[in-house]
Amino acid sequence: MGLENYHKYDAVIVGAGGAGLYAALELSRQGVNVAVVSKLYPTRSHTGAAQGGIGAALGNIAEDHPEWHMFDTVKGGDYLTDQDAARVLAEEAVLTVYDLEHMGLPFSRLENGKIAQRKFGGHTRNFGEGPVERACYAADRTGHMILQTLYQQCIKNNVTFFDEFHMTDLVMNGDTVCGIVAVSLYDSSVHTFHAKAVLFGSGGFGRMFSVTSNAHALTGDPVAICFRHGIPLEDMEFFQFHPTGIYKMGILLSEAARGEGAILRNKDGERFMERYAPTMLDLAPRDMISRYIYMEIRAGRGIEGKDYVHLDFTHIDPKIIEERLPDITDFVRVYMGIDPVKVPVPIQPTAHYAMGGIPTDLDGCVIKDPKNTPVPGAFAAGECACVSVHGANRLGTNSLVDILVFGRRMGIAGADYCRSAEWKPLPSDASDTTRAQIEAILANSSGQSAADIRRELQVEMMDKAGVFRTGEGLETVKKTVDDLKQRYLKVGVTDRGTSFNTELLEAVELGNLLELAEVTVESCIARTESRGAHAREDYPDRDDANWLKHTLAYREPDGSIRMDYKPVVLGTFEPKERKY
Ligand code: FUM
Repeated sequence: MGLENYHKYDAVIVGAGGAGLYAALELSRQGVNVAVVSKLYPTRSHTGAAQGGIGAALGNIAEDHPEWHMFDTVKGGDYLTDQDAARVLAEEAVLTVYDLEHMGLPFSRLENGKIAQRKFGGHTRNFGEGPVERACYAADRTGHMILQTLYQQCIKNNVTFFDEFHMTDLVMNGDTVCGIVAVSLYDSSVHTFHAKAVLFGSGGFGRMFSVTSNAHALTGDPVAICFRHGIPLEDMEFFQFHPTGIYKMGILLSEAARGEGAILRNKDGERFMERYAPTMLDLAPRDMISRYIYMEIRAGRGIEGKDYVHLDFTHIDPKIIEERLPDITDFVRVYMGIDPVKVPVPIQPTAHYAMGGIPTDLDGCVIKDPKNTPVPGAFAAGECACVSVHGANRLGTNSLVDILVFGRRMGIAGADYCRSAEWKPLPSDASDTTRAQIEAILANSSGQSAADIRRELQVEMMDKAGVFRTGEGLETVKKTVDDLKQRYLKVGVTDRGTSFNTELLEAVELGNLLELAEVTVESCIARTESRGAHAREDYPDRDDANWLKHTLAYREPDGSIRMDYKPVVLGTFEPKERKY
């Protein structure tokens, strides 16, 4: 097996969402020879699905300060947030939004011409006094506009794109990353990319749950591949459920809806958030609201005795709904056949965002242990990464800030690295694992169905590793994942062709989802406390004495998972009880 389809770039970026594109832009601005490898056409990346806004303390409507944004990020993350990262996020958010404005991003505007801002969950004035307008938005298409703007800038800067190339392996020379392997969807050809630096901006892995806002592509391939190569994964027990997904479908109805005044109601029409979060009401953080929705349902106050509640827009001026929330209004009309202007919308929490991922420092350098030892040549930013800026629960709008602020920083650090690093030779067997993996799946034409295994995984993860968890339930799901992994060894496909064989690549993706589900469950079992999005019913309290620390999960050579721990970076804000 040789190295056909060999490509050589100083820097290869995997993923063409906001983090990957901002990094590509920065590298190309600095004259680095850079290629972006993306399994989707770039403007279909999941950044485009981010609706409600990007948080930045511009103060265009009410007084605001980066320090308040930082505080909200730390408190929202249930004090697991690294405070140095939160400071960078809040301070650089402001510059980033103006940078986007100068690139031509069509933000919604106030009458005075300034960028429009609105309220969002957990964003407060003066350290928690009440909601503040911090989310800068382009109607409810903010991510879409960011993606288009950055892609256009990358094209202008002659960035090379390999569209619909699916990463299947990481190439290392000793401890140093020196490339990747990818399969072209067009003809199933295997390609090897030789690089000084590999930068990941590949997004999350919400497809391990049955009800999710995540697109089909979000299977966390590079995250699972890094894990297999000995890179640890940080804080994988923290997976965010967004409170307002369309019932049963999981399609996101932006928090911007509640920012514009929509209200959560139970079967009695009661605004139940008054009982749980008297100051922030429907704009409390997502982890809390998702739990409260299930508590209402468990108490028999779900609508028609079912597992959903209502999101009520009917009291809002229809002009505001149509102007500021056009996309989600359409989603409700198209997918539910009802008009949100006239009737309340059935919603349930939907798996939305991985707070955990590939550990990095503040410049996106991947690190491999609690001492922050770097993995030379590897960088990551955005949802695939864990710079630990969201702690145990991310605030709405902070994902777009994260991908841009830390995507840009990763690009700058990657460019510095490329200028000084030596080329490492590429091992001659770099693509053998990928070829063997593909041949094995194609050979199993009567093997196990990937769709069946995936469905069972998703349902089990949703039931037992979702909003609420128990030790007993987690042990059950662990056993299920082990069984599914055994079945996966025999996974096969019915399409044995080479052209656009999506069945084959979905089978490959399933292996990555199983890997990430396993490490998520192990990390959930290890953390015997409740914090942020990790709600253990058998350990209902936050336990700062023992658990104010990050988890690092390692794949050991014998196949087992080992847990290690890393201190939280504290500083300005002392951990306190979270009240909203
Ligand atoms: O609700 C939303 O618009 C989602 C935003 C986010 O996840 O930051």
